Amino acid sequence: MKKQNLVIVGGGSTYTIGMIMSLIEEKKQFPLRTITFYDTNQQRQEKIAKAVDIILHEKYPELESFSWTTDKETAYRDADFVFVQIRTGGLAMREKDEQIPLKHGVVGQETCGPGGMAYGFRSIGDMIKVVEDIRTYAPDAWILNYTNPAAIVAEALQRQFPHDKKILNICDMPAAIMVSYAKILGKEIWDLVPEYFGLNHYGWFTDIYDKQGNRLTDDIKRAITEDGFIPEDSEIVNDPSWIKTFKQVEVMLNDYPEYLPNTYLQYYLYPSDMVDKDDVENTRARQVINGREKRVHTLSEQIIEDGSTKNVELEVDIHGRYMIRVAASLAYNQGETYIVIVKNNGIISNIQDDAMVEVPAALTAQGPKPYAVGEIPTFYKGMIEGQLAFEKLVVDAWFEKSYNKLMQALTLNRTVIDAPKARAILDDLIEANKDYWPTLTKKKAYTP
Ligand code: G6P
Ligand code: MN
Repeated sequence: MKKQNLVIVGGGSTYTIGMIMSLIEEKKQFPLRTITFYDTNQQRQEKIAKAVDIILHEKYPELESFSWTTDKETAYRDADFVFVQIRTGGLAMREKDEQIPLKHGVVGQETCGPGGMAYGFRSIGDMIKVVEDIRTYAPDAWILNYTNPAAIVAEALQRQFPHDKKILNICDMPAAIMVSYAKILGKEIWDLVPEYFGLNHYGWFTDIYDKQGNRLTDDIKRAITEDGFIPEDSEIVNDPSWIKTFKQVEVMLNDYPEYLPNTYLQYYLYPSDMVDKDDVENTRARQVINGREKRVHTLSEQIIEDGSTKNVELEVDIHGRYMIRVAASLAYNQGETYIVIVKNNGIISNIQDDAMVEVPAALTAQGPKPYAVGEIPTFYKGMIEGQLAFEKLVVDAWFEKSYNKLMQALTLNRTVIDAPKARAILDDLIEANKDYWPTLTKKKAYTP
Protein backbone atom coordinates (compact mmCIF):
# COMPACT_ATOMS: atom_id res chain seq x y z
CA MET A 1 0.00 0.00 0.00
CA LYS A 2 1.41 3.36 -1.02
CA LYS A 3 1.86 5.64 1.98
CA GLN A 4 0.19 9.02 1.60
CA ASN A 5 1.30 12.60 2.19
CA LEU A 6 -1.54 14.37 3.97
CA VAL A 7 -2.06 18.09 4.44
CA ILE A 8 -4.62 19.45 6.88
CA VAL A 9 -5.71 22.99 6.07
CA GLY A 10 -6.94 24.69 9.22
CA GLY A 11 -4.39 22.94 11.45
CA GLY A 12 -5.41 25.13 14.38
CA SER A 13 -9.01 23.90 14.32
CA THR A 14 -10.60 22.40 17.44
CA TYR A 15 -11.29 19.29 15.35
CA THR A 16 -7.64 18.63 14.54
CA ILE A 17 -6.70 16.52 17.57
CA GLY A 18 -9.75 14.33 16.98
CA MET A 19 -8.66 13.96 13.36
CA ILE A 20 -5.14 12.97 14.42
CA MET A 21 -6.51 10.35 16.80
CA SER A 22 -8.63 9.03 13.95
CA LEU A 23 -5.59 8.89 11.64
CA ILE A 24 -3.81 6.84 14.29
CA GLU A 25 -6.82 4.55 14.71
CA GLU A 26 -7.12 4.12 10.93
CA LYS A 27 -3.42 3.81 10.09
CA LYS A 28 -3.84 0.37 8.59
CA GLN A 29 -6.66 1.58 6.34
CA PHE A 30 -4.89 4.79 5.35
CA PRO A 31 -1.12 4.64 6.03
CA LEU A 32 0.70 7.96 6.00
CA ARG A 33 4.23 9.03 5.11
CA THR A 34 3.87 12.65 6.20
CA ILE A 35 1.37 14.94 7.88
CA THR A 36 1.59 18.69 7.31
CA PHE A 37 -0.60 21.35 8.90
CA TYR A 38 -1.32 24.58 7.11
CA ASP A 39 -3.06 27.54 8.71
CA THR A 40 -3.07 31.30 8.26
CA ASN A 41 -2.97 31.80 12.02
CA GLN A 42 0.51 30.71 13.08
CA GLN A 43 -0.06 31.03 16.83
CA ARG A 44 -3.34 29.19 16.96
CA GLN A 45 -1.94 26.40 14.81
CA GLU A 46 1.25 26.06 16.86
CA LYS A 47 -0.70 25.47 20.08
CA ILE A 48 -2.36 22.44 18.55
CA ALA A 49 0.64 21.31 16.50
CA LYS A 50 3.02 21.08 19.45
CA ALA A 51 0.62 18.75 21.23
CA VAL A 52 0.04 16.76 18.06
CA ASP A 53 3.80 16.36 17.67
CA ILE A 54 3.93 14.63 21.06
CA ILE A 55 0.89 12.48 20.29
CA LEU A 56 2.38 11.36 16.99
CA HIS A 57 5.78 10.53 18.48
CA GLU A 58 4.04 8.26 20.95
CA LYS A 59 1.41 6.70 18.76
CA TYR A 60 2.60 6.97 15.17
CA PRO A 61 6.38 6.38 15.30
CA GLU A 62 6.40 5.03 11.74
CA LEU A 63 5.32 8.41 10.38
CA GLU A 64 8.30 9.91 8.50
CA SER A 65 7.55 13.51 9.31
CA PHE A 66 5.08 15.85 10.90
CA SER A 67 5.37 19.59 10.35
CA TRP A 68 3.30 22.74 10.39
CA THR A 69 3.61 25.83 8.29
CA THR A 70 1.97 29.04 7.12
CA ASP A 71 3.75 28.81 3.76
CA LYS A 72 1.61 27.49 0.94
CA GLU A 73 4.33 25.96 -1.17
CA THR A 74 5.89 24.13 1.80
CA ALA A 75 2.46 22.86 2.72
CA TYR A 76 1.12 21.67 -0.62
CA ARG A 77 4.17 20.46 -2.54
CA ASP A 78 4.06 16.62 -2.74
CA ALA A 79 0.60 16.39 -1.19
CA ASP A 80 -1.51 13.36 -2.10
CA PHE A 81 -4.50 14.37 0.01
CA VAL A 82 -5.57 17.72 1.39
CA PHE A 83 -8.28 17.85 4.05
CA VAL A 84 -9.76 21.35 4.22
CA GLN A 85 -11.48 22.56 7.38
CA ILE A 86 -11.40 26.35 7.46
CA ARG A 87 -13.71 28.79 9.24
CA THR A 88 -13.44 32.31 7.87
CA GLY A 89 -14.15 34.75 10.68
CA GLY A 90 -13.76 32.06 13.33
CA LEU A 91 -16.23 31.29 16.08
CA ALA A 92 -16.63 35.02 16.76
CA MET A 93 -18.38 35.43 13.41
CA ARG A 94 -20.31 32.20 13.93
CA GLU A 95 -21.79 33.81 17.02
CA LYS A 96 -22.96 36.81 14.98
CA ASP A 97 -24.44 34.52 12.31
CA GLU A 98 -26.54 32.94 15.03
CA GLN A 99 -27.42 36.07 17.02
CA ILE A 100 -28.48 38.38 14.20
CA PRO A 101 -31.33 36.27 12.79
CA LEU A 102 -32.44 35.33 16.32
CA LYS A 103 -32.86 39.01 17.19
CA HIS A 104 -35.35 39.14 14.33
CA GLY A 105 -37.19 36.04 15.55
CA VAL A 106 -35.59 33.80 12.92
CA VAL A 107 -33.55 30.59 13.34
CA GLY A 108 -29.93 31.41 14.24
CA GLN A 109 -27.83 28.54 12.96
CA GLU A 110 -24.30 28.01 11.66
CA THR A 111 -25.30 26.48 8.32
CA CYS A 112 -29.07 26.96 8.01
CA GLY A 113 -31.06 30.05 7.05
CA PRO A 114 -29.52 33.54 7.19
CA GLY A 115 -26.59 32.38 9.36
CA GLY A 116 -25.63 29.78 6.78
CA MET A 117 -25.93 32.38 4.06
CA ALA A 118 -23.65 34.78 5.93
CA TYR A 119 -21.10 32.05 6.59
CA GLY A 120 -21.29 30.90 2.98
CA PHE A 121 -20.61 34.41 1.79
CA ARG A 122 -17.47 34.48 3.95
CA SER A 123 -16.32 30.99 2.98
CA ILE A 124 -16.63 31.09 -0.80
CA GLY A 125 -13.78 33.51 -1.55
CA ASP A 126 -11.34 31.83 0.84
CA MET A 127 -12.22 28.36 -0.40
CA ILE A 128 -11.63 29.37 -4.02
CA LYS A 129 -8.20 30.73 -3.01
CA VAL A 130 -7.36 27.57 -1.07
CA VAL A 131 -8.20 25.39 -4.08
CA GLU A 132 -6.19 27.64 -6.44
CA ASP A 133 -3.19 27.46 -4.11
CA ILE A 134 -3.41 23.70 -3.79
CA ARG A 135 -3.65 23.33 -7.55
CA THR A 136 -0.56 25.54 -8.04
CA TYR A 137 1.63 23.14 -6.07
CA ALA A 138 -0.27 19.86 -6.08
CA PRO A 139 -2.27 19.63 -9.31
CA ASP A 140 -3.09 15.98 -8.71
CA ALA A 141 -3.91 15.87 -5.00
CA TRP A 142 -7.33 14.84 -3.77
CA ILE A 143 -9.04 17.73 -2.00
CA LEU A 144 -11.53 16.57 0.62
CA ASN A 145 -13.46 19.56 1.78
CA TYR A 146 -15.62 19.72 4.85
CA THR A 147 -15.65 23.49 5.18
CA ASN A 148 -19.14 24.76 5.90
CA PRO A 149 -21.72 25.55 4.78
CA ALA A 150 -20.85 22.57 2.61
CA ALA A 151 -23.88 22.93 0.31
CA ILE A 152 -23.03 26.50 -0.64
CA VAL A 153 -19.28 25.86 -0.78
CA ALA A 154 -19.81 22.82 -3.01
CA GLU A 155 -22.01 24.82 -5.38
CA ALA A 156 -19.45 27.63 -5.58
CA LEU A 157 -16.49 25.29 -6.15
CA GLN A 158 -18.39 23.41 -8.83
CA ARG A 159 -18.95 26.69 -10.68
CA GLN A 160 -15.39 27.96 -10.27
CA PHE A 161 -13.63 24.64 -11.01
CA PRO A 162 -16.06 22.73 -13.24
CA HIS A 163 -13.38 20.46 -14.70
CA ASP A 164 -11.58 19.58 -11.46
CA LYS A 165 -12.47 15.95 -10.80
CA LYS A 166 -10.53 15.68 -7.55
CA ILE A 167 -12.48 17.95 -5.24
CA LEU A 168 -14.92 16.11 -3.01
CA ASN A 169 -17.19 17.81 -0.48
CA ILE A 170 -18.28 15.77 2.50
CA CYS A 171 -20.26 16.15 5.68
CA ASP A 172 -20.09 13.96 8.76
CA MET A 173 -23.72 14.37 9.85
CA PRO A 174 -25.15 11.34 8.01
CA ALA A 175 -22.31 9.28 9.51
CA ALA A 176 -22.89 10.65 13.01
CA ILE A 177 -26.56 9.68 12.67
CA MET A 178 -25.58 6.22 11.41
CA VAL A 179 -23.42 5.73 14.50
CA SER A 180 -26.64 6.01 16.52
CA TYR A 181 -28.46 3.59 14.18
CA ALA A 182 -25.59 1.15 14.55
CA LYS A 183 -25.84 1.35 18.33
CA ILE A 184 -29.59 0.64 18.19
CA LEU A 185 -28.93 -2.37 15.97
CA GLY A 186 -25.97 -3.64 17.98
CA LYS A 187 -23.72 -3.25 14.94
CA GLU A 188 -20.81 -1.11 13.77
CA ILE A 189 -21.40 1.83 11.45
CA TRP A 190 -19.21 0.12 8.84
CA ASP A 191 -21.70 -2.79 8.72
CA LEU A 192 -24.50 -0.48 7.53
CA VAL A 193 -25.37 0.37 3.93
CA PRO A 194 -27.43 3.56 3.68
CA GLU A 195 -29.88 4.70 1.04
CA TYR A 196 -30.09 8.46 1.30
CA PHE A 197 -30.87 11.54 -0.78
CA GLY A 198 -30.98 15.28 -0.34
CA LEU A 199 -28.88 18.38 -0.19
CA ASN A 200 -26.23 18.84 2.48
CA HIS A 201 -27.85 19.24 5.94
CA TYR A 202 -31.14 18.65 4.16
CA GLY A 203 -31.69 14.99 3.43
CA TRP A 204 -33.39 11.74 4.34
CA PHE A 205 -32.39 8.12 4.80
CA THR A 206 -34.91 6.12 2.80
CA ASP A 207 -33.51 2.77 3.92
CA ILE A 208 -30.75 1.16 5.93
CA TYR A 209 -29.43 -2.29 5.07
CA ASP A 210 -26.63 -4.39 6.47
CA LYS A 211 -23.88 -5.75 4.23
CA GLN A 212 -25.74 -9.04 3.92
CA GLY A 213 -28.69 -7.17 2.37
CA ASN A 214 -31.09 -7.33 5.32
CA ARG A 215 -33.38 -4.30 5.54
CA LEU A 216 -33.11 -2.74 8.99
CA THR A 217 -35.12 0.44 8.44
CA ASP A 218 -38.16 -0.65 10.43
CA ASP A 219 -36.05 -1.80 13.37
CA ILE A 220 -34.56 1.68 13.52
CA LYS A 221 -37.94 3.42 13.18
CA ARG A 222 -39.44 1.20 15.86
CA ALA A 223 -36.58 1.90 18.25
CA ILE A 224 -36.73 5.65 17.68
CA THR A 225 -40.48 5.93 18.14
CA GLU A 226 -40.50 3.63 21.18
CA ASP A 227 -37.27 4.57 22.95
CA GLY A 228 -36.26 7.93 21.45
CA PHE A 229 -33.00 8.78 19.74
CA ILE A 230 -29.70 9.91 21.24
CA PRO A 231 -26.23 10.78 19.93
CA GLU A 232 -23.64 8.04 20.38
CA ASP A 233 -20.47 9.41 18.77
CA SER A 234 -17.87 10.40 21.39
CA GLU A 235 -17.70 14.03 20.25
CA ILE A 236 -21.40 14.70 20.87
CA VAL A 237 -22.65 11.96 23.20
CA ASN A 238 -22.62 14.16 26.33
CA ASP A 239 -23.46 17.45 24.68
CA PRO A 240 -26.87 18.80 25.83
CA SER A 241 -27.42 20.67 22.57
CA TRP A 242 -26.80 17.58 20.46
CA ILE A 243 -28.92 15.46 22.80
CA LYS A 244 -31.83 17.89 22.19
CA THR A 245 -31.21 17.77 18.46
CA PHE A 246 -31.28 13.98 18.32
CA LYS A 247 -34.42 13.94 20.46
CA GLN A 248 -36.16 16.05 17.82
CA VAL A 249 -35.68 13.20 15.31
CA GLU A 250 -38.42 11.30 17.12
CA VAL A 251 -40.80 14.26 16.71
CA MET A 252 -39.90 14.56 13.02
CA LEU A 253 -40.40 10.88 12.42
CA ASN A 254 -43.84 10.97 14.00
CA ASP A 255 -44.89 13.96 11.87
CA TYR A 256 -43.26 12.65 8.67
CA PRO A 257 -43.03 8.87 9.10
CA GLU A 258 -41.93 7.94 5.59
CA TYR A 259 -38.16 8.45 5.80
CA LEU A 260 -35.54 8.95 8.51
CA PRO A 261 -34.62 12.65 8.60
CA ASN A 262 -31.24 14.32 8.85
CA THR A 263 -31.13 16.15 12.19
CA TYR A 264 -30.67 19.50 10.42
CA LEU A 265 -34.22 19.33 9.04
CA GLN A 266 -35.41 20.42 12.49
CA TYR A 267 -34.47 24.01 11.66
CA TYR A 268 -36.65 24.03 8.55
CA LEU A 269 -39.59 22.02 9.88
CA TYR A 270 -39.83 23.50 13.39
CA PRO A 271 -38.38 27.01 13.02
CA SER A 272 -40.56 28.58 15.75
CA ASP A 273 -39.62 25.90 18.28
CA MET A 274 -35.95 26.38 17.43
CA VAL A 275 -36.19 30.13 17.98
CA ASP A 276 -38.05 29.65 21.27
CA LYS A 277 -35.46 27.20 22.58
CA ASP A 278 -32.51 29.49 21.81
CA ASP A 279 -30.91 32.09 24.07
CA VAL A 280 -29.35 34.93 22.11
CA GLU A 281 -26.64 35.35 24.77
CA ASN A 282 -25.73 31.68 24.65
CA THR A 283 -26.09 30.42 21.11
CA ARG A 284 -24.21 27.36 19.86
CA ALA A 285 -21.05 29.35 19.05
CA ARG A 286 -20.81 30.53 22.67
CA GLN A 287 -21.31 26.96 23.87
CA VAL A 288 -18.54 25.77 21.57
CA ILE A 289 -16.20 28.57 22.70
CA ASN A 290 -16.81 27.67 26.35
CA GLY A 291 -16.96 23.96 25.70
CA ARG A 292 -15.06 22.25 22.89
CA GLU A 293 -12.59 25.10 22.31
CA LYS A 294 -11.60 25.37 25.99
CA ARG A 295 -11.47 21.59 26.32
CA VAL A 296 -9.18 21.18 23.32
CA HIS A 297 -6.87 23.99 24.42
CA THR A 298 -6.61 22.69 27.99
CA LEU A 299 -5.92 19.24 26.61
CA SER A 300 -3.13 20.41 24.32
CA GLU A 301 -1.57 22.56 27.05
CA GLN A 302 -1.54 19.54 29.36
CA ILE A 303 0.13 17.37 26.72
CA ILE A 304 2.77 20.02 26.04
CA GLU A 305 3.44 20.54 29.76
CA ASP A 306 3.82 16.80 30.42
CA GLY A 307 5.65 16.10 27.17
CA SER A 308 3.34 13.09 26.92
CA THR A 309 -0.28 12.03 26.75
CA LYS A 310 -0.16 10.16 30.06
CA ASN A 311 -2.55 12.53 31.86
CA VAL A 312 -5.15 13.04 29.19
CA GLU A 313 -7.94 11.07 27.60
CA LEU A 314 -7.87 11.14 23.83
CA GLU A 315 -10.82 10.06 21.77
CA VAL A 316 -11.44 9.01 18.23
CA ASP A 317 -14.54 10.48 16.58
CA ILE A 318 -16.64 9.62 13.57
CA HIS A 319 -15.90 12.95 11.91
CA GLY A 320 -12.26 11.99 11.46
CA ARG A 321 -12.80 8.31 10.82
CA TYR A 322 -15.36 8.93 8.09
CA MET A 323 -13.12 11.37 6.17
CA ILE A 324 -10.22 8.94 6.42
CA ARG A 325 -12.23 5.97 5.19
CA VAL A 326 -13.46 8.12 2.30
CA ALA A 327 -9.85 9.03 1.50
CA ALA A 328 -8.77 5.38 1.72
CA SER A 329 -11.48 4.27 -0.68
CA LEU A 330 -10.35 6.90 -3.21
CA ALA A 331 -6.65 6.22 -2.70
CA TYR A 332 -6.81 2.45 -2.94
CA ASN A 333 -9.74 2.14 -5.35
CA GLN A 334 -11.80 0.26 -2.79
CA GLY A 335 -15.20 1.19 -4.21
CA GLU A 336 -16.70 1.38 -0.74
CA THR A 337 -19.98 3.26 -0.37
CA TYR A 338 -20.05 6.56 1.50
CA ILE A 339 -22.47 9.49 1.51
CA VAL A 340 -20.85 12.42 -0.32
CA ILE A 341 -21.83 15.59 -2.16
CA VAL A 342 -21.77 15.32 -5.98
CA LYS A 343 -23.35 16.94 -9.01
CA ASN A 344 -26.82 15.48 -9.53
CA ASN A 345 -26.64 14.70 -13.27
CA GLY A 346 -29.77 12.57 -13.10
CA ILE A 347 -29.11 10.74 -9.83
CA ILE A 348 -32.36 12.17 -8.45
CA SER A 349 -34.20 12.08 -11.75
CA ASN A 350 -36.84 14.73 -11.02
CA ILE A 351 -34.42 17.39 -9.72
CA GLN A 352 -32.31 19.63 -11.96
CA ASP A 353 -29.00 18.16 -13.14
CA ASP A 354 -26.78 20.94 -11.85
CA ALA A 355 -27.80 20.57 -8.19
CA MET A 356 -25.08 19.49 -5.77
CA VAL A 357 -26.77 16.59 -3.99
CA GLU A 358 -25.80 14.43 -1.03
CA VAL A 359 -26.12 10.75 -1.90
CA PRO A 360 -24.32 7.43 -1.42
CA ALA A 361 -21.57 6.73 -3.94
CA ALA A 362 -18.99 4.02 -4.50
CA LEU A 363 -15.64 5.76 -4.13
CA THR A 364 -12.99 4.60 -6.60
CA ALA A 365 -9.64 5.93 -7.77
CA GLN A 366 -11.58 7.64 -10.57
CA GLY A 367 -13.78 9.38 -8.05
CA PRO A 368 -17.33 8.91 -6.76
CA LYS A 369 -19.68 6.64 -8.69
CA PRO A 370 -23.05 7.62 -7.25
CA TYR A 371 -25.98 5.21 -7.21
CA ALA A 372 -29.21 6.18 -8.93
CA VAL A 373 -31.95 7.41 -6.59
CA GLY A 374 -34.67 7.87 -9.22
CA GLU A 375 -37.80 9.95 -8.73
CA ILE A 376 -38.47 11.34 -5.29
CA PRO A 377 -41.98 12.03 -3.94
CA THR A 378 -43.57 15.50 -4.19
CA PHE A 379 -42.97 16.57 -0.58
CA TYR A 380 -39.20 16.05 -0.77
CA LYS A 381 -38.99 17.48 -4.26
CA GLY A 382 -40.77 20.62 -3.09
CA MET A 383 -38.61 20.94 0.02
CA ILE A 384 -35.39 20.37 -1.91
CA GLU A 385 -36.20 22.70 -4.78
CA GLY A 386 -36.92 25.61 -2.44
CA GLN A 387 -33.68 25.07 -0.54
CA LEU A 388 -31.71 24.50 -3.74
CA ALA A 389 -32.95 27.80 -5.16
CA PHE A 390 -31.83 29.49 -1.94
CA GLU A 391 -28.35 27.94 -2.19
CA LYS A 392 -27.98 28.78 -5.87
CA LEU A 393 -29.09 32.37 -5.33
CA VAL A 394 -26.53 32.80 -2.55
CA VAL A 395 -23.79 31.63 -4.89
CA ASP A 396 -25.14 33.76 -7.76
CA ALA A 397 -25.14 36.72 -5.39
CA TRP A 398 -21.51 36.13 -4.46
CA PHE A 399 -20.33 35.93 -8.07
CA GLU A 400 -22.50 38.88 -9.18
CA LYS A 401 -22.02 40.89 -5.93
CA SER A 402 -25.79 41.30 -5.88
CA TYR A 403 -27.82 42.54 -2.93
CA ASN A 404 -31.03 41.69 -4.73
CA LYS A 405 -30.15 38.03 -5.15
CA LEU A 406 -29.43 37.71 -1.42
CA MET A 407 -32.80 39.27 -0.76
CA GLN A 408 -34.38 36.68 -3.08
CA ALA A 409 -32.41 33.88 -1.40
CA LEU A 410 -33.59 34.79 2.10
CA THR A 411 -37.17 35.16 0.90
CA LEU A 412 -37.10 31.58 -0.36
CA ASN A 413 -35.53 30.14 2.77
CA ARG A 414 -38.08 28.31 4.93
CA THR A 415 -36.65 29.94 8.05
CA VAL A 416 -37.39 33.48 6.76
CA ILE A 417 -40.07 33.82 4.02
CA ASP A 418 -41.19 37.29 5.08
CA ALA A 419 -39.74 40.15 2.94
CA PRO A 420 -39.43 42.80 5.67
CA LYS A 421 -37.66 40.27 7.88
CA ALA A 422 -35.38 39.25 5.01
CA ARG A 423 -34.45 42.89 4.38
CA ALA A 424 -33.81 43.71 8.05
CA ILE A 425 -31.67 40.60 8.61
CA LEU A 426 -29.74 41.15 5.39
CA ASP A 427 -28.91 44.74 6.30
CA ASP A 428 -27.66 43.67 9.74
CA LEU A 429 -25.58 40.88 8.24
CA ILE A 430 -23.98 43.23 5.72
CA GLU A 431 -22.95 45.55 8.54
CA ALA A 432 -21.59 42.70 10.70
CA ASN A 433 -19.66 41.16 7.79
CA LYS A 434 -18.14 44.27 6.28
CA ASP A 435 -14.59 42.96 6.79
CA TYR A 436 -15.43 39.72 4.95
CA TRP A 437 -18.16 40.16 2.37
CA PRO A 438 -17.68 41.72 -1.04
CA THR A 439 -19.45 45.06 -1.52
CA LEU A 440 -22.91 44.45 -2.93
CA THR A 441 -24.76 46.36 -5.59
CA LYS A 442 -28.42 47.08 -5.01
CA LYS A 443 -30.63 47.52 -8.07
CA LYS A 444 -33.59 49.85 -7.96
CA ALA A 445 -36.87 49.18 -9.75
CA TYR A 446 -36.51 52.43 -11.65
CA THR A 447 -33.67 54.91 -11.93
CA PRO A 448 -34.61 58.19 -13.58
C1 G6P B 1 -22.02 18.44 12.41
C2 G6P B 1 -22.15 18.97 11.02
C3 G6P B 1 -21.10 19.99 10.76
C4 G6P B 1 -21.20 21.09 11.78
C5 G6P B 1 -21.10 20.53 13.17
C6 G6P B 1 -21.38 21.61 14.18
O1 G6P B 1 -20.86 17.73 12.54
O2 G6P B 1 -22.07 17.97 10.05
O3 G6P B 1 -21.28 20.49 9.48
O4 G6P B 1 -20.20 22.05 11.60
O5 G6P B 1 -22.02 19.51 13.33
O6 G6P B 1 -21.22 21.11 15.45
P1 G6P B 1 -21.05 22.05 16.72
O7 G6P B 1 -20.88 21.07 17.81
O8 G6P B 1 -19.86 22.92 16.44
O9 G6P B 1 -22.30 22.83 16.81
MN1 MN C 1 -22.00 19.01 8.06
